[in-house]
Amino acid sequence: MIFELVIGVLCVFGYFYIKLKFKWTFWKDHNVSHPQPEFPFGSSPMFGWNSFTQKYNMNELAKNQAIALGFPKFYGNYIFGTPNLIVCDPEMAKHILVKDFDHFVDRQGETFTKLLEGGHFVDQLWINQMTALRGDKWKSTRATFTPIFTAGKLKGMIKFIHEVTNDLVKSVGEEAKTGKPFELKEKFGKFSMDTIATCAFGVNAKSFEDESSIFAKNAKAMFRSSGEEILKFIIAMIPGGKVVLKLLDIPINKKYITLFFYNVIRNTIMHRMETKTRRNDLIDLMIDAMKAENCNKDDTEDSELDHDLRFKQTDEVTMVATALVILVAGYDTTSQTMAITSYFMARNPDIQEKLYQEIMECVGEMKDEKGHPDYNQIQSLPYLDMVLHETLRFNPLLGLIGRACTKNYNIPDTNIVLMKGNEVHINAMAIHHNPDIYPNPEEYDPERFTKEAKANRHPYAFLGFGQGPRNCIGMRFALLEAKLGLFAVLRKYKFVSTPETEEKLTLDPKAFLSVPKEPLIVKAVERS
Ligand code: HEM
Repeated sequence: MIFELVIGVLCVFGYFYIKLKFKWTFWKDHNVSHPQPEFPFGSSPMFGWNSFTQKYNMNELAKNQAIALGFPKFYGNYIFGTPNLIVCDPEMAKHILVKDFDHFVDRQGETFTKLLEGGHFVDQLWINQMTALRGDKWKSTRATFTPIFTAGKLKGMIKFIHEVTNDLVKSVGEEAKTGKPFELKEKFGKFSMDTIATCAFGVNAKSFEDESSIFAKNAKAMFRSSGEEILKFIIAMIPGGKVVLKLLDIPINKKYITLFFYNVIRNTIMHRMETKTRRNDLIDLMIDAMKAENCNKDDTEDSELDHDLRFKQTDEVTMVATALVILVAGYDTTSQTMAITSYFMARNPDIQEKLYQEIMECVGEMKDEKGHPDYNQIQSLPYLDMVLHETLRFNPLLGLIGRACTKNYNIPDTNIVLMKGNEVHINAMAIHHNPDIYPNPEEYDPERFTKEAKANRHPYAFLGFGQGPRNCIGMRFALLEAKLGLFAVLRKYKFVSTPETEEKLTLDPKAFLSVPKEPLIVKAVERS
């Protein structure tokens, strides 16, 4: 019996091995360079043995693949047997992200969505997020929520960011008083958490006051990938695996953390509706956006009706999913951008000094010198903008920008046809570190983002926020938040290196984003 079983397993194994070997000829047959695939996963930096061994950060792996292949315009890889394309050329990125967008509306292929569809409630929340939505559903959700991020709406929210900024400055001030080194990622993590909590969840997360804040703890846990999710994902891919997971009430995504946020958002929405209170924060704007959408759908309804009458169950899932995506897409990205920028300021005192001069000129022009800059003032600081762009050039948080091919696509100037279902990843990490595009790419230099320097470069050479109709919807919010926070801290304190400050950044192999592995240690010194 055991003998038959072993033979059976070996046959299945052998069958898949031979099948994959045949499929892994696609790129060779088309004469396209590609890294060698490894059984059984293939060669994608996103999904392979590295996902289990967690030796490299996947964005770093993507950069190393491009370097090893000599920065080709594009190269091939495989996810299991499916050929996928990785693009390292800005012009080709423009085709995929903008010109031929109708072939690449989705971020993920059908396989992934189908795995989650009809499953656990937690997984339903995740596939209804804007980042994961596909086709017309994505188009309508994006159109509904785009107006909540306009400049006018952000102006209304700036006061909430100012409140959290005061806490940040106080906290850095305390570090400066002790004279001891401290960690930047944690500091800006608190700032980003409290900003999103107040703007998107209507909650005071109290990260600066309360080290054990449950909101912050859950949010942090959300962003660390573990072998567990990948294992559940693989089980769901095995025939019958999805049914087993459903019977055992196990979602593929993190269950308790998702439900924690679901309850926070749901309670806030219910509270707003019952008490009819308004803060004009993202929650209110989301309720307005859903209300406007429902009015458009049925204009026979009385437009004066309050949103509580219009609010439906499906709306609840969409809203919770959207609030959740703001946290998921906005928390770690913004806090890491601020922490990495501050690290680079400590490592490059000349750049920090130039930024300080710009900030102090602005302070001199403010009506209340002790107050905060208003929306227009903070937007009129070119060097601050250049510094943040250089941080994201050096370290694009999302090093691989994904699109799924939704209609067969002839790769320009080739005879290669990408089939519906194949995925394309724009290797932003490789584009940002290609010495032909950015000379001395391993050097931190904000001068790369002067108006003249930008005009001399391909407009798609910077992909820190993606590009095209599916770019980062929260870009303005993120930049506003980061600028206000850094402005407030840097006008009062100087970041300086200490012997514990890392000389070079290495990326966390466990993280999905390109975030530093080591603590970012600096000292803060009060300016006289
Ligand atoms: C510095 C901070 C941030 C960075 C570097 C960043 C970067 C990105 C990137 C690279 C993408 C993919 C774009 C593409 O596929 O072309 C993206 C998508 C997205 N981001 Fe951000 N992001 C940041 C902050 C935020 C914030 C604060 C929010 C929400 C308030 C947000 C919400 C989103 C959403 C919802 C998407 C998906 C858009 C869609 O599929 O239509 N992001 N972001």
